[in-house]
Order: sequence, then C-alpha cells, then structure tokens
Amino acid sequence: MQILLCESAEQVGARAADIIEARIRRGPAVLGLATGSSPRTTYLELIRRHREEQLSFSQVRAFTLDEYAGLPAEHEQSYWSTIRRELVDHVDLPLEHLFTPRGDAPNLRGEAQRYDAAIVSAGGVDVQILGIGANGHIGFNEPTSSLESRTRVKTLAGATREDNARFFPEGNVPRLCLTQGLGTIREARWAVLVAMGSNKANAVRAMVEGPVSAHCPASVLQLHPQAVVILDPAAAADLTLLDYYREAQELNEQLLSYR
Ligand code: GLP
Repeated sequence: MQILLCESAEQVGARAADIIEARIRRGPAVLGLATGSSPRTTYLELIRRHREEQLSFSQVRAFTLDEYAGLPAEHEQSYWSTIRRELVDHVDLPLEHLFTPRGDAPNLRGEAQRYDAAIVSAGGVDVQILGIGANGHIGFNEPTSSLESRTRVKTLAGATREDNARFFPEGNVPRLCLTQGLGTIREARWAVLVAMGSNKANAVRAMVEGPVSAHCPASVLQLHPQAVVILDPAAAADLTLLDYYREAQELNEQLLSYR
C-alpha cells in the first residue's frame, strides 16, 4: 500500500488525476468510479484537464461502484445521475460507455450478478477510484462484508444512512443498495483511495494500520498489490507511521524524477 500525503483536498485530487490520466493516455481504459464528496476534487481536475489539456475520455468505459436499490436511474440522487452531474456530462465519455447497476431492476440479485459479469467481460477495471465511509466502508460494503464478496444486494448501515440523509431531505433514504463486492474491487488493477477531513481519520488508520478485517472493509486494500491511498492532513492525522510514509514518498518521488 502506497500512502501519499498531500497538503490539501485539491492536491489529493491532482495526484489521483495523475494516475487516471497516465492510464487513459496509454489507450482504451476501464475506470471504476466512486460517488460521494471525496472524489470531487479528482473529478474537477479531470474535467479541467479535459478542457485545457486535451485529455479525452472517448476510449474510456466506466463502471460505478454502487447504486441505491429502488431508485430509477433518472432519480436525481441515483448514482447514475450523480456521476453524470459530477464527471461524465463534462467530458467526452460516451454515455453508452457508462455503466451502473440498475437500482430499479425487478430482480436485484440477478442484476447484481449481471453487473459483476459485465465488469469481468469488459476486461476488468484498470483504475478504481474509491472513497471511504467514516465506518470504513468502500462502495457500500458495510462492516462485516465478506472480503471475497461479489457485487450483491446489501443493507445500508444506520451510520451510512445518517451520513447520506443530507441528500434525501424528505427522510426517505433507501435501506438497500447494490454494490460491487470487496472481491470485485480487489480485482481492479489499481485501487486509488482518496480521503480528506477529520471525520475519516479513524477509518483511515484502521484501513492502513489496523488488521485486515471485515470490521473495516477498506482494510482489504492491504491485500491489493497496487493500492494507493491519497490523504489530506486531516484524514492522515491519526496514522502512527507518518514520518515513515513521508520519507518513502520523498524517496519515491526522487526515483521517479530520475527516469
Ligand atoms: C458513500 C459511497 C461510497 C463513498 C462513501 C464516502 O455512501 N457509497 O462510495 O466513498 O460513502 O462518502 P463521502 O466521500 O461523501 O464521504
């Protein structure tokens, strides 16, 4: 696991965008997209590079991590609508290259299996962007999710529903969702997790320095060969080995600049 310590949320976004850009410029790519506030600076930076530096998404296919059950794609809080608003509608990614599980599918279990299979038949995800929930979830894999899980229907934790209640002013936060499983996410060739803010510091410490445990689903990234965790100072504040991460980061950057 590589830890990148940044000065600000904007710098977090720029570092994550560097990894995505490098992959996109190499040829057709499959991206895994997270929703939520954490990847916003990453998406803003990608949009800027698209507008100002000819970064094209025309050869990109994108799979979102998750979706609320019960919401049709057109609902303004569906993750289909959210990812369009936050990224897809501002770049040249063809809409037919954007995939989300259908939250209003009549057979949710079947839909989850179909979605998982679609990711595999697309050749798997090249770069998966992730945020982390304050309870350590990634996607909507709540604590106690199997580390081997595939895309499936999950019950949202009370804490997650409270965190997301701000998007549902009428109080009707969905109780169920479809989410890529931890086993699915682990198959991405790169996993890039971005976190900012003090409310993530505990979860970040459990993910990076705690045991690999279903109690902190994000800790599964310790098993990933190419996981990068990009943090602002507040999200990194509870890590115990900060000096070591800083030194490793500096040395890595020197090595890269020799190439
Ligand atoms: C949401 C999403 C996750 C996201 C997380 C954190 O519920 N399902 O993909 O990473 O919770 O959200 P935020 O980035 O807004 O803190």
